[in-house]
Amino acid sequence: MKIKSLPNGPNMLETEESLTLKTDAGEKPLKTPCYLCRCGHSKTKPLCDGSHLAAKFEAPAAEIVGGKKT
Ligand code: FES
Repeated sequence: MKIKSLPNGPNMLETEESLTLKTDAGEKPLKTPCYLCRCGHSKTKPLCDGSHLAAKFEAPAAEIVGGKKT
C-alpha cells in the first residue's frame, strides 16, 4: 500500500487490494489508484474532483509506504 500526497493536489492511494468506498448512501467499488481530496473543496468528498486547481491549493508532496512486516 502506498499513499502519496501529490504536490498541490490530492492524496493518491495505491494498493493491490480491492477498494470499496462506504458512505451513508451505500457502497461503491473504487479503482486503484484512487485520489482522495486533501484541499477540502471537492464536491465528491472524500474523492478529489479537481477543485484543488481552481482553489489554488498549495501543499508539499509526501509519501507513506506500507508493507508486510517480516
Ligand atoms: S485535492 Fe482535489 S479537489 Fe481537493
